[in-house]
Amino acid sequence: MTDVFEKIEGITGVAARENELLSLHTTFGVGGSCDLMVWVSTEEALKEVLAAAQAGGLPTFVLGRGSNLLVRDGGISGVVLRLVEELAGIDVTGLGIRAGGGASLGEVVSRATSAGIGGLEFLAGIPGTVGGAAVANAGARDIWFGHYMAELTILGSDLETVRLSADDLKFGYRTSSLAPDWIVIEAVLSGAAASVEEVRQKVETSLERRRRTQPVGERSAGCIFKNPPGDSAGRLIESAGLKGLTVGGAQVSPVHANFIVNTGGATAREILDLVARIKDRVKVLNGVELELEVSVVGKD
Ligand code: EPU
Repeated sequence: MTDVFEKIEGITGVAARENELLSLHTTFGVGGSCDLMVWVSTEEALKEVLAAAQAGGLPTFVLGRGSNLLVRDGGISGVVLRLVEELAGIDVTGLGIRAGGGASLGEVVSRATSAGIGGLEFLAGIPGTVGGAAVANAGARDIWFGHYMAELTILGSDLETVRLSADDLKFGYRTSSLAPDWIVIEAVLSGAAASVEEVRQKVETSLERRRRTQPVGERSAGCIFKNPPGDSAGRLIESAGLKGLTVGGAQVSPVHANFIVNTGGATAREILDLVARIKDRVKVLNGVELELEVSVVGKD
């Protein structure tokens, strides 16, 4: 493994650290370590890192901003990638926003606001990257990332770059047709003309609503379950009397029942135990099978 690590560490446009704790890089503040964490700044460097990892038989995983994710306590085997600098850049032309897969959604919203590009206000307050938002089709109940995506550039496991148009892809509630081994290099988002003041107002309203209804500022992975068709996971969990239910450091948020918060020192095991208890109670009381929205990755 050390040979592969040395090779990766020597690639231009790469910074790397061995045995990095993932709890430092997830919004839950939970997760064991990975063998190597690699910050990659260019497409060329990314291809070289992936080629070296493939040749050395090491799995790779793109972390994004560590939101909407639960990393288990045994961590992730192999190489964990963060896309930075050029791969996280943002360019605005007219009503189009070209953003790297590693760009933060917050930065996209702020650039859209100052350019008077409307439509993307719903992304305000979502702590993810453009790549993560494309894969999980981030958004609210019926307005989502895919609605504004004009073009997507991805890198497949054959290390070929492919440009896809919106018509090549399918998006649904929290799902997309992006293959699990694709890495999002860049997305072009297309908004509508608006005044800067109008966009600013909508962003502020959206953030204010979040501050009022969600445990903003606490350690969570966002909503933990998908909303079942025609209902709300938060409403079901609250009506099952589970707000505030605790397993170790994991708690059903008293603010919004579809959030689990890490009140300090929670483990992935405790969070998953709490998830199982919630699913069980909601199934018994309402006959509804809740489905996780967050991705669970790594080893026990
Ligand atoms: N509700 C309760 N108890 C609660 C929470 C909610 O009764 O503890 C009720 C509310 O009163 C409301 C309904 O459930 O009548 C819906 O709640 P809310 O308006 O807060 O929206 P949500 O459906 O729970 C969705 C997305 C959020 C997104 C918000 C706002 C899902 C699973 N959740 O929440 O996305 O921020 O709309 O746009 O689709 C996420 O995906 O991580 C996420 C937080």
